[in-house]
Amino acid sequence: ALAQAAERVAAEFEYTKQDVNRGVHEFIRQMDEGLGKTGATMSQIPTYVTAVPNGTEKGLYMAVDLGGTNFRVCSIQLHGNSTFSLTQSKVAIPKQLMVAKTSHELFSFLAKQIELFLKTHHGEQYQSHKEKRSNVLTGDKEEDVFSLGFTFSFPVQQSGINKGTLIRWTKGFDIHDTVGKDVCALLQQEIDALGLPVRVAALVNDTVGTLMARSYTSPGKTGTLLGAIFGTGTNGAYVEKLEKVTKLKKLGAAAGDIDTSTGEMIINTEWGSFDNQLSVLPDTSYDRDLDRESVNPGIQMFEKRVSGMFLGEILRRSLVKLLNDKAVPLFSDEDSNQNDVHSTTNVAPDSPLYKQWGLDTSFLSITSGDHSSGLKVTRQTLDKEYGVTAASAEDAEAVRLIASAIGKRAARLSAVAIAAIVLATNALKKPTEIATTNNATLEVNEDDIVDIGVDGSLVEFYPRFEEYIREALREIPEIGPQGEKKIRIGIAKDGSGVGAALIALVADKAMKGGY
Ligand code: BG6
Ligand code: GLC
Repeated sequence: ALAQAAERVAAEFEYTKQDVNRGVHEFIRQMDEGLGKTGATMSQIPTYVTAVPNGTEKGLYMAVDLGGTNFRVCSIQLHGNSTFSLTQSKVAIPKQLMVAKTSHELFSFLAKQIELFLKTHHGEQYQSHKEKRSNVLTGDKEEDVFSLGFTFSFPVQQSGINKGTLIRWTKGFDIHDTVGKDVCALLQQEIDALGLPVRVAALVNDTVGTLMARSYTSPGKTGTLLGAIFGTGTNGAYVEKLEKVTKLKKLGAAAGDIDTSTGEMIINTEWGSFDNQLSVLPDTSYDRDLDRESVNPGIQMFEKRVSGMFLGEILRRSLVKLLNDKAVPLFSDEDSNQNDVHSTTNVAPDSPLYKQWGLDTSFLSITSGDHSSGLKVTRQTLDKEYGVTAASAEDAEAVRLIASAIGKRAARLSAVAIAAIVLATNALKKPTEIATTNNATLEVNEDDIVDIGVDGSLVEFYPRFEEYIREALREIPEIGPQGEKKIRIGIAKDGSGVGAALIALVADKAMKGGY
């Protein structure tokens, strides 16, 4: 009975080939809509970054990175030969700051971490910059301050390379008075309050940072097309033709603000909110309940089905449903009353399984990748972390089946986003190759590679995530096995710090008239 019940639940998460293809077409439509107007479900935010690096950039830059779970401060020495050295410190963002009453609480914490980092790792330069700073009454000379790239992984309406107002919080953050404010100015204010010799030179989404970093470290002839995060949240930024970003004019961007020489601009899609209207996204009762009880019902609907913050909660809700079903012997204590399988359960009353967000997504990675005999690892984790004593091998098998179905659906949905961007940008159709695409033995030529940089805990740790993505990519006729081979996906680990430094460099050059 248990195995059948688990199979029934797992089947609810099936996301078929037809679903994938329908998803891709709708994704492309919503991308287009977002390029044309503000307020579309997919924000398609112009980043004002109009060139990707080529590996020759040099200099010392700072970056801070407010991502999903961690806050990092780094300094990056770019060596100019596609390599860099990185010094970084990382702290978990205190939970109470994510839902603080005022922006000041969060941003002053960030500024203090920057001060600590400078004193620890760049003491001498910090002192010398600071002294010069207090000697100069009328502003600092450019050489006397650290330029800093601010990776801020939330949707921001940018109006310049270091200017932008927060559209909405995501990933569980909820600080009312930040919405609508310029987050660069908020950080600069707190930096100035501490008298730090630091200028916030660039505002960067983590996906944009990932794209820049990947482009710096693996500069192929064609550059990188897409930077994507599959972590606590999910999102992507890609290289778009300027002429397709028709809303730029409506945004009133002054022509002088934009370097148009490349004819391209990086767009932050904010695909986490793809299809908030649920016209094509799968929607189980677990998805609906999760959304209703979240801090932002009705938004980030794609993200809520794909990313790390939510997958554990989807699994938890599926398991609770089975636990509440008297006919299903999940985690039941077989030694107790044999006539009533549910008279006693092996789940402690205070188990995290009964609490919202109680099940961590890392558990999905553990159980989906469990090859131990009798799924011992899964059973031990259930016992140690989740208060489920004496889970049987059948219990563990049921849990794994459902967890894997949730993980696989997430990966196939991720493929929808990747495929849509590859197709919408025509990246696979290089003129030289159109004539030869029928040749099944065609070797993939380096020039034809479509390069994608990815980062985030899900793609890094969930077993076979990329494999499932690729399987789905092959099921899309416009891509197929030939196209799938040309798509190169590479981890740009902790790339967004480096990416932010690269954008700070571009911003600096622009300010000094170098661009
Ligand atoms: C980190 C990047 O490596 O990955 C961050 O530096 C990014 O900018 C993060 O937000 C995403 O992963 P996760 O799993 O922490 O959300
Ligand atoms: C959320 C944020 C987005 C970020 C993504 C990955 O979707 O809205 O800005 O890029 O998480 O961290």
